[in-house]
Amino acid sequence: MNDTMINSIPDQYEKIKEAGIELKFNMASDVYTGSLLKTLAASKPSGKLLELGTGTGLATSWIVAGMSDNSSLLTVENNSLLIEVAKKHIEDSRVEFIIANAYEWIKTYTGEKFDLIFADAMPGKYDLFEETIDMLKSGGLYIIDDMLPQPNWPVGHDIKVKELIDKIEGRNDLSITKLNWSTGLIIIAIK
Ligand SMILES: C[S@@+](CC[C@H](N)C(=O)[O-])C[C@H]1O[C@@H](n2cnc3c(N)ncnc32)[C@H](O)[C@@H]1O
Repeated sequence: MNDTMINSIPDQYEKIKEAGIELKFNMASDVYTGSLLKTLAASKPSGKLLELGTGTGLATSWIVAGMSDNSSLLTVENNSLLIEVAKKHIEDSRVEFIIANAYEWIKTYTGEKFDLIFADAMPGKYDLFEETIDMLKSGGLYIIDDMLPQPNWPVGHDIKVKELIDKIEGRNDLSITKLNWSTGLIIIAIK
């Protein structure tokens, strides 16, 4: 098996990548995480999906590519310049782009729970982790990347990562798989 062979890259992928380079945005999820997100999104037909940290929409493009016609995605980002790139390239009625501070958004969300959450911002991952896990339906999936050391990590970020992994491993109500693949992934299923 050659796991570097990634097929069916989303149509918008190259244009979003170019726009991200122009904006010097270096935090986008990689193609391996993207392909996994597409697969997991496809496993939730009629699913209600959430992404925290849209960025320029690279990961969003993969999630959308996997979604069934009647699935929907909310994606939250506080940087309007970045999310505008995503909105420009991902014109899809199944997707709602929300410009908001995810700390506030998570604390005030009262809608239906989610079948899948890709948490790719500080809020929902390193902060408000429990609140975000509580937003999952039974059988729902929570996915995080960048759990292995990355060149763009700020000083001290490794401590935050360790604390998060300890917190996750301390919860015996969660089914957890850690993958030393891509940028380091953790997939959680809630019973
Ligand atoms: C790791 S990047 C996400 C990259 C994205 N998955 C992609 O593939 O392009 C994290 C994003 O979270 C956003 N972010 C950081 N703090 C936030 C907050 N409090 N509320 C909403 N978004 C936030 C950043 O602006 C950044 O775009």
